Amino acid sequence: MTTSSAPLAGKTIVLGVCGGIAAYKAVEVCRRLVDLGAHVAPVMTDGAERFVGRTTLSALASQPVQTSLWDEESPIPHTRLGQGADLVLVAPATARLLSAYAHGLAHDLLTNVLIATRAPVVVCPAMHTEMWEHQAVQANVRTLRERGVHVVDPEDGRLAGGDSGKGRLAAPDAIVAEVSSVLGQRDLAGAHVVVSAGGTREPIDAVRVIANRSSGKQGYAVADEARRRGARVTLVTTVDRPAPIGVETVCVETAAQMKAVLDGLAATADVVVMAAAVADFRPVSCTSGKIKKSGGVPEIVLEPTPDILAGLGAAKRPGQILVGFAAETGDLVAQAQSKLERKNLDLVVANDVSQPGVGFQHDTNAVTFVRPGGELESHPLSDKRDIARALLDIVVGLRA
Ligand code: CTP
Repeated sequence: MTTSSAPLAGKTIVLGVCGGIAAYKAVEVCRRLVDLGAHVAPVMTDGAERFVGRTTLSALASQPVQTSLWDEESPIPHTRLGQGADLVLVAPATARLLSAYAHGLAHDLLTNVLIATRAPVVVCPAMHTEMWEHQAVQANVRTLRERGVHVVDPEDGRLAGGDSGKGRLAAPDAIVAEVSSVLGQRDLAGAHVVVSAGGTREPIDAVRVIANRSSGKQGYAVADEARRRGARVTLVTTVDRPAPIGVETVCVETAAQMKAVLDGLAATADVVVMAAAVADFRPVSCTSGKIKKSGGVPEIVLEPTPDILAGLGAAKRPGQILVGFAAETGDLVAQAQSKLERKNLDLVVANDVSQPGVGFQHDTNAVTFVRPGGELESHPLSDKRDIARALLDIVVGLRA
């Protein structure tokens, strides 16, 4: 029996189960979610029924298992299930399910639910190591992540048929923890968070630019995490990459364009996270055609770009939180502290980009958060999503 104070009371979770040896663990996940107060609506694929009996899952879930688009008299259970869900969880998720979902292929009840829902989705892949490592599977996982799907990575361990390696379904504990965190953490609900991402490109002539190596990954991770925590998010980006689902995107190229968009948005935003690598200098003029080499080595005269963040700091409203980044190659904390004061910021995320795996283009980052008064918090090398989470934890603390 559960009470309304149970952590997941009032939440409806569609639990999708695919055909794999790990399907038996879905039974345990189902039981735990019900124990936490969730209403669990199970959906099994045809393959799943070969591994676990529908009676078992029906008995432990909050309603009977559904397997087919044609189970009920009403021909629209896929939209009803997806629309009514607070979260859709797929455990285990096979390579086939990941592929169908990534490509929008709605061929059975579970894939219909996934494509019809606007609720957050958590997928927990499980398969043999060779399959998990295959480029097609990894590409599908990447696509899903970029769209805002939460992926609980498989673990290393024993697999079916006596094999062993990465690909084993994550432990029920880890799956339930992710579901609870996705459903529970809405601490930015009602806030408008503006994030900038990527490196600006400053034109030299019709075909050439001054650019930098920023991939935008850290900014995208912050945007995605902020949306997940309930914020309305606007991402101002120079990167040609789909925004996470539910995130509004404005594409820009130059520092001047980024400044114009950010100045407008910051007038009402609650939080601005300036993760973009803005060029400090740009050519004074841009040649209209292509500069031909027959004309000799061109002289490119540079001028400073406006410091966007310093401008936002000067115009900061009471209660608004401004976060800057500091990409350094030495003297990390002192440089970050000076930027914090100079630009009137609430937080600087400082990283030493000369270290392996840190900053530009990597999926990982190691940072020191620097706050007014000299308060420091260091994070060792970790996934940029973990850094995004830690950054927003501090932002939420500052808003409290
Ligand atoms: N920034 C900005 N506009 C610029 C340059 C930087 O808004 N023209 C922002 C960056 O987005 C970042 C912060 O300022 O959040 C610090 O950027 P960084 O390049 O580390 O420092 P700079 O202020 O440019 O100083 P320096 O290059 O001398 O380290």
